[in-house]
Amino acid sequence: MFAKTHNFIIPMKKHIFFVFLAIGLFFISCNKQEPMSAVIERGLQTATQQAVLMAQELENREGKLPTTIKPDGTLETSDYSWWCSGFFPGELWYLYENNPAPELRKYAELYTGRVEPAKYLTNTHDLGFMLFCSFGNGLRITQNPHYKDVLIAGAHSLATRYNPTVCAIKSWDFNKDVWQYPVIIDNMMNLELFTWASKETGNDIFREIVDSHALKTIENHFRPDFSSYHVVSYDTITGKAHIKQTHQGFSNESAWARGQAWGLYGYTAMARETGNNKYLEQARNIAGFLINHPTLPEDKIPYWDFDAPISIDTPHDASAAAIMASALIELSQLDKGEFGKQCLELAEQQIRSLSSPEYLAKPGTNRCFALMHSTGNFPDNSEVDVPLSYADYYYVEALLRLKKLIR
Ligand code: GLY
Repeated sequence: MFAKTHNFIIPMKKHIFFVFLAIGLFFISCNKQEPMSAVIERGLQTATQQAVLMAQELENREGKLPTTIKPDGTLETSDYSWWCSGFFPGELWYLYENNPAPELRKYAELYTGRVEPAKYLTNTHDLGFMLFCSFGNGLRITQNPHYKDVLIAGAHSLATRYNPTVCAIKSWDFNKDVWQYPVIIDNMMNLELFTWASKETGNDIFREIVDSHALKTIENHFRPDFSSYHVVSYDTITGKAHIKQTHQGFSNESAWARGQAWGLYGYTAMARETGNNKYLEQARNIAGFLINHPTLPEDKIPYWDFDAPISIDTPHDASAAAIMASALIELSQLDKGEFGKQCLELAEQQIRSLSSPEYLAKPGTNRCFALMHSTGNFPDNSEVDVPLSYADYYYVEALLRLKKLIR
């Protein structure tokens, strides 16, 4: 399999990975911490090797983007319309930013192009994920003006899902018998497309949607301990919440791990983008709930739900850890006090765990995903203890954020 990469720009070959691994194990056996710079380098090298192998594998399968591994062990792919379509191209942009090799750019452009038809979708709230991770990173890195047009078209499509009576963006169109107007905590992740569009176009409507949605979510999604509900459905006449429950979590009152991570990341990003202290405070409060949570395991990679019964078989969710780590690193730069230090400390522990053999795949294995052990939808018995494209995306993002800090 590695013969395919011989003419490729990746500087690390398989044996060098094992050298990195041996160095890591040496530090562990001496009871010393491996330098964070070595941890980061191992993560980035592995992610690059895996992403290129993945890109090569799907190069001639038109329109296909990687998502996970199927129960039969084969690669699961999607087209542009699945909520995860933007993560692989976005990861390729990050890896290209780290290592500006022409082949990485070629693949970043190829896979980003595959997501373009999503710009006209109005039946999903996930356009932020799909377009801002792919085209947003591409634009930031290349200034390609076409990418800007795609993002603006996408922002207009997403804005069609905003209802001014409810003051929020509608997440889902299914289960209409139960939910009048479901909004999920994940939806905070789509707001960055709007803060960007507001600055880019000068159209205030985008910023109004951001503030309405973010404030409405603070009002209704959070419990007194700052854990969050997964789904809040609103009454479309009164705009009031009529149902609060879960869809992917353990129970209606539980703290679904990835949902907590989405909330943390969403409010941290909004604090950065708007400078609004209310969002920073919310991010700090969510982080406070997570940092000392009694069920956070020793390796700091949460189980799939913070309230799930714990046994030897309870799956972790590496994707939640990667999202959390990336957000905590950013939060540590917005809060320069003691609390910010605690955030960074936890993020570093998570990065160390994710970059250990327990979670980081050996190159050429794991169907070319970087991370193992994520959980997509446990109650549906779907994507349990598998790699996921978004785990890899946020892992690479976190590695690059940390790399910038320790330079
Ligand atoms: N809706 C995105 C997720 O499953 O986290």
